[in-house]
Amino acid sequence: MRLDKYLALASVGTRKAVRVMVREGKVQVNGELVLEPASEIHPEQDQIEVQNRVIGQTQKIYYMFHKPAGCVTARWDHKDKTVLDYFDSVQTEGLFPVGRLDKDTEGLLLFTNDGEFNHELMKPEHHIEKTYLFWATGVLDECAKRSIQEGLLLKGEVERTKKAKLEIEKTGLFQEYKEELLSLLSDIQFQKTEKLLRSNRPVLKGQLTITEGRKHQVKRMLQAYGCHVIYLKRISIGRLKLDETLKKGSFRPLSQEEIQSLK
Ligand code: URA
Repeated sequence: MRLDKYLALASVGTRKAVRVMVREGKVQVNGELVLEPASEIHPEQDQIEVQNRVIGQTQKIYYMFHKPAGCVTARWDHKDKTVLDYFDSVQTEGLFPVGRLDKDTEGLLLFTNDGEFNHELMKPEHHIEKTYLFWATGVLDECAKRSIQEGLLLKGEVERTKKAKLEIEKTGLFQEYKEELLSLLSDIQFQKTEKLLRSNRPVLKGQLTITEGRKHQVKRMLQAYGCHVIYLKRISIGRLKLDETLKKGSFRPLSQEEIQSLK
């Protein structure tokens, strides 16, 4: 691996900053001064020192992010703001989102540079529960609720969804919940559903817990019974709950306990 890449991944500084440090003679590899940032090193064997401080293996980082609606879960996009645009103030090299949320979905999104952690958390056989709070238009009868919980065949798929938990918290007409709902919706969510809401349709609020990560899964599971999701927020992953003191668009490091709770 290149020396400058290693130092940046170890959070010594940005790529640019670490290159300057190397050229200024602040970095030693196995006790010898190295002035070329692109020098090849072997992190498992070589001892890297910056100003006489030994740099360990790449430091693992874990963040909880409160994703707002309107940004895409990607490292880069030619048109939309991405979730990584909110991480300007930290070293983002090697940092990636664990799983993804749709552009109009809000809530808990994890970031790490730990590939193994990501792999373990995403493995379908680990059945990690993810809970989503939703508002949708429509009505769910007992039969539809049972089917959503027991597993259903989504359009275009050959395998039924795994068992899920569904809790309905509120049902009624849009006008009854207008204020509550409108206070939640961002511009993008509102624009997408304005027409639906104008006709004072039945709406419902609930929580759906799934253990898979199929594309648009929550929306499609509800859509299968005629319910159109107008607001969606992920509120937990496993035992980890979204820290509601975290403002939309903000992030904070996970505590050791929180990291352990996901392993
Ligand atoms: N299910 C969805 O439909 N969208 C998401 O963003 C996450 C789960």
